[in-house]
Amino acid sequence: MQFQNSIIEYFYRIMKYFRHSILLIICAMLCAPTLMAKRRVLKSPDGRTEVLVELRGGCAYYSVCRDGQPIVGASRLGLEEKNGVELSRGLRETRTDYAAVDSLWHQPWGENKTIRENYREMTVHLRSLNADLALRFRAFDDGIGFRYEVAAKGRDSLQIVRELTEFCFIDDARSWSIPANSDTYELLYRDLPLSQIGTANTPLTLRTHAGVYCSIHEAALYDYPEMTVASTDSLRLEARLAPWPDGIAAREPGSFHTPWRTLQLADRAVGLINSSLILNLNPACQIADTSWIRPKKYVGIWWGMHVGIWSWVMGDRHGATTERAIDYIDFAARNGIDAILAEGWNKGWEAWGGNQEFDFVNAQADFDVEKVCAYAKAKGVKFIGHHETGGNIPSYERQMDAAYQRLKALGVDDLKTGYAGGFRGGFSHHGQYGVRHYQHVVETAAKYGLTIDAHEPIKDTGIRRTWPNMMTREGARGMEWNGWSAGNPPSHHEMLPFTRLLAGPMDYTPGTFDLLLESSKHSPDHKRWNDQDNGQARTNTTLCKQLANWVILYSPLQMASDMIENYEAHPAFQFFRDFDPDCERSEALDGEPGEYVVVVREAKGRFFLGATTNEQARRLSVALDFLKPGQDYRAIVYADAPDADWLTNPQAYMISERKVRHGDTLDIRMAPGGGQAVTFVPAASR
Ligand code: NOJ
Ligand code: CA
Repeated sequence: MQFQNSIIEYFYRIMKYFRHSILLIICAMLCAPTLMAKRRVLKSPDGRTEVLVELRGGCAYYSVCRDGQPIVGASRLGLEEKNGVELSRGLRETRTDYAAVDSLWHQPWGENKTIRENYREMTVHLRSLNADLALRFRAFDDGIGFRYEVAAKGRDSLQIVRELTEFCFIDDARSWSIPANSDTYELLYRDLPLSQIGTANTPLTLRTHAGVYCSIHEAALYDYPEMTVASTDSLRLEARLAPWPDGIAAREPGSFHTPWRTLQLADRAVGLINSSLILNLNPACQIADTSWIRPKKYVGIWWGMHVGIWSWVMGDRHGATTERAIDYIDFAARNGIDAILAEGWNKGWEAWGGNQEFDFVNAQADFDVEKVCAYAKAKGVKFIGHHETGGNIPSYERQMDAAYQRLKALGVDDLKTGYAGGFRGGFSHHGQYGVRHYQHVVETAAKYGLTIDAHEPIKDTGIRRTWPNMMTREGARGMEWNGWSAGNPPSHHEMLPFTRLLAGPMDYTPGTFDLLLESSKHSPDHKRWNDQDNGQARTNTTLCKQLANWVILYSPLQMASDMIENYEAHPAFQFFRDFDPDCERSEALDGEPGEYVVVVREAKGRFFLGATTNEQARRLSVALDFLKPGQDYRAIVYADAPDADWLTNPQAYMISERKVRHGDTLDIRMAPGGGQAVTFVPAASR
């Protein structure tokens, strides 16, 4: 007993003596998971990019460094839900997982048919009172992506009112963007210090003072509103979600994940164009047989309406007549063009701008759609369907199955859609309602074997990896603006590749040859049909820049958009005849946003190069290192004439030919607002 008591007393004394240290040790043991949870680090495979995730006071933050230099400082993460499931505060870490992937995947068409997917992943699992929130980060050599994965116990639906995602930039970077707008992307680009943007749509492109190029965007946008950003205090960008009419941003089930929020990073501006980050953050292809999905060049009954000499509606000026379609098919067959489009082929155009009740099944009386499609088939030309919805989603969704069946019965593989008009009921084009509709179209079209070229679309977020029938889309000011407005300024074309096109292909429809609209503006048939037309419309480039834009403004469906009479017997049309829209490999070689750009694409042993410049004349030397060593090539060069100028002499061009090989240098001279296009053909072949 005595012995026992003395042991207890001894133990008691030790405890008393060391009480402070023991308390500290116990505390440390209890707090260990929390302390450890405070900072989690993920590095890109090349080790240059580092993402740090940390919890401070129960709130989550991330930051991004490149080469040890901060790019994005501590930026808030989280979501806010209407009825209080806490997804942004009171968070504690339960565990963190790491993974890595390095593999190759292939796509049926694209700038590059083979893509390397190489990333490190870190998922920080957080828990609040009644919800699990996982922050999944992926770091690639060309940037990072992260998304929220939510599981709210006992809840079968959640109403997200706000996303707390921030991008807190360290310096007042130079930026290129259009303002945020939940109904249109057809706006002019701004070149502004980040602190002055107010709001911006994505892709938002930046150049930090240290010279790092960045682009903020999103990948795999499904069943969620689009994200734009707003600068609250100068360098802090907050995510904004286009809401439903009742103010809710996203209606989700109890378990869901958001799209990826992305930050592309590159040492050179063209590194952003050459990045596959957006595609790599999309899931694998969902379409088993993709053999019917083929890139194409096309012409169409289209520009005549925009320049005001033809109409979409029936009448004397109706563009889409059977006879004209037959002419277009003949032209396509003679010139190696794969397909024709005929807008205004269907009934209902009188309703455009009114009740928007189009008929997507029946053709107008002067357009014999069966005859046109049979004739096209006999000539080996495809007919591209067209559905202008005017934004009347209920009417379109009601007719979709019947309309798609009809197109398939006619042998059609490709469909251009349009949403020129506000959505009913206060819904916006870019909110969750719109995102759901655009996706419903893609999946229904896939079911019937149709590809989609969407105008007035939801922004591209790389879903073509999963749904390669989602071929191309508009989603920026395209060629049409040159038909009836002050038009797109020359530098617009050097903005697009570094901004809008980082998201994915664009159906810009370059290819105007009659740049000053000589053949239409004096026509007795000409009618002003658009409020923005001040009678001064024209295309603000040189002719060679139109050719070069076929290479630069990537679209697997590439349209020579002028009326065919402006192409007949035109020597420069040879570039479009030779051009192959089904490339295997692409590389942006040089350029700066809004200034100039040079892109090369390889297709079946040939190479196509396009270079363009803004309002400034420019001379560039391009190393022909992309050509196959040991092979001679004929370089057919379409260059601005020495006296060409987009403003005063846009039509002047020269075509020349020379022999070149790997290692040679191409001297490119471009007029103000000009460009150059080159076809490289292996010398032995024709
Ligand atoms: C707007 C589209 O961008 C254009 O290409 C089309 O011609 C009109 N809507 C009519 O559908
Ligand atoms: Ca449009």
